[in-house]
This record gives sequence, C-alpha cells and structure tokens, in this order.
Amino acid sequence: MSLFICPLCRAPLQADAKVWRCAQGHSFDVAREGYVNLLPVQHKHSRAPGDNADMVTARREFLQAGHYQPLREAAVALLAPLQAQSLLDLGCGEGYYSSAFRAAVPNVIGLDIAKSAVRLAAKRFRDIIWLVGSGALLPLADASVDVVSSLFSPLPIAEMRRVLKPAGRVLVVTPAAGHLLSIRERLFDEVRAHEPDKFLAAFESEFDLQQRQHLQFPLRLTPPALKQLLLMTPYAWKAKPERRAALEAGEGAVTEAAFTLLLFRRKASG
Ligand SMILES: C[S@@+](CC[C@H](N)C(=O)[O-])C[C@H]1O[C@@H](n2cnc3c(N)ncnc32)[C@H](O)[C@@H]1O
Ligand SMILES: [Zn+2]
Repeated sequence: MSLFICPLCRAPLQADAKVWRCAQGHSFDVAREGYVNLLPVQHKHSRAPGDNADMVTARREFLQAGHYQPLREAAVALLAPLQAQSLLDLGCGEGYYSSAFRAAVPNVIGLDIAKSAVRLAAKRFRDIIWLVGSGALLPLADASVDVVSSLFSPLPIAEMRRVLKPAGRVLVVTPAAGHLLSIRERLFDEVRAHEPDKFLAAFESEFDLQQRQHLQFPLRLTPPALKQLLLMTPYAWKAKPERRAALEAGEGAVTEAAFTLLLFRRKASG
C-alpha cells in the first residue's frame, strides 16, 4: 500500500522517480531538487503560502550558526528511545530539525506549505522525502506513520491523529514563558508570557501526554544574529518600528532561549 495519497482525490499515490500519480490520473512532478509539490493550486490561499523567502533565509542562517543546537539535540534524544520507523515533520521549514531526526528514525518525511523552504531543504538533505503540502489536508494515508513532529508549526490535531499508527506519537515544541524575555522587554512596554499549556487541552481527548520537558539555555547574539532572529520571529513585527530599529542598531544581545517539548501518545480509541 502506498504511504502517500493524492491531495485532490485521496486515492493512493504511486511514487515514481520523476512523477507521482494516482489512479484517477492526477500527477505531481518530482522537482529537480528532489521534492514533490503536493499542494494543489486550489488549496493555496495565497500565491506563496507559509513563511516568505526573507524569513526562510534568516531562519536558515540563524539555525545553521547553531544557536538552537541544544534544542535539536534534546528533540533527537526524546525521539531515540521510541524506535520509530517513520516520522512526519509538519512545518519542517528548511529541514534543520527534520535532518537531525534521521539519527533516531530511518524514514523521515518533511512537509511544509512554503515551497521556498522545502526547496532549500531538498537541496541540502538527500535522504529524506520532502513535500510541499498543507497540514490542513495531509497527503499521507491513514495510520501510516509512527511519529508526527511539529516544531513551532501548526497543530492540525485531527489530521495528525488520522495519519498516525495506533499508539503513534506527536512531538510538539513551543516557546516557553521565558523565551527571549529580555529581547521582548526591549521591544514592548508590556510583555505577555507565552502559554505553552494552551495546547494541552486540545490534545486531551485523542492523546495522552507522555513526557514534558523544559529546556532553557543562554543565547549570545551578534548584531546580524539578532537581526535574523527578529526576522524569523513574527511577534517582533508587532513592535514599534523605532524600538525594533534601536534594538537592531545596538551591539547584539544576551538573552535566554526557553522551550517546552511535549510528547503525546495517540489513544487506542476515542
Ligand atoms: C516557525 S516556522 C518553523 C519551521 C521549522 N519547524 C523550524 O523550527 O525551523 C513554521 C513553519 O510552518 C509552515 N506552515 C505554516 N502553515 C502551514 C500549513 N498549513 N501546513 C504546513 N506548513 C505550514 C511555515 O511555512 C513555516 O515553515
Ligand atoms: Zn487523484
């Protein structure tokens, strides 16, 4: 049975070296870089959905410099004991985390709605299946993967549950209350805490929370790194332009990264 389904008619997709097609004759080309675009035009709500090219480039440079490496290591360490065979990284971006997950899971699929991000990921990392697609309608068969991960990305709970095997896991990573606090204090008069717990209630009926981990570490940011971080962090755009400009004109920043890692297990029924 095919792992992938046609985003137009939900029939199984036959994956070929050059083109993926369903029995109804819908076909999707494998791009030169090796990814497959399974996002039909009619499912796009804008011309270039997802993160834009500037955000994608900023995030790639920031992550490549290793600022979030402790998070990547913690996520891999959380996945390793599961001995999963397959993982879907939903909202994979440029694949910084997805590529590391290969150390813990043999079959990794990275999916993102932003083609520019998936193209970069596919150029760089070969042994992963890269898809342009939407989390709202995942192009994967029912009960087809062991783990779905979503790092700072959408959480379409019903779709995640549908594609998970029984007792499959979801790994969620979100910013924690103290994330970038000193930077947010410089950007805003009033700083609202991130609320990672708000996701828990939404998962409750379909999933059991198995593990919860808090991770905090210092970040030393040069002016270019700070600029990249602000570009890839949407809430920074809500700051007054003069505050942001003052921050960017400074000597960089020393702050704290703080994340919550949540591991859920799909309930047998419900
Ligand atoms: C904050 S980024 C995180 C990217 C990556 N996980 C990381 O941490 O580097 C969120 C990602 O979700 C993607 N995204 C947004 N809406 C989506 C959707 N409906 N389906 C799939 N991906 C989506 C964006 O394009 C973006 O790459
Ligand atoms: Zn089809």
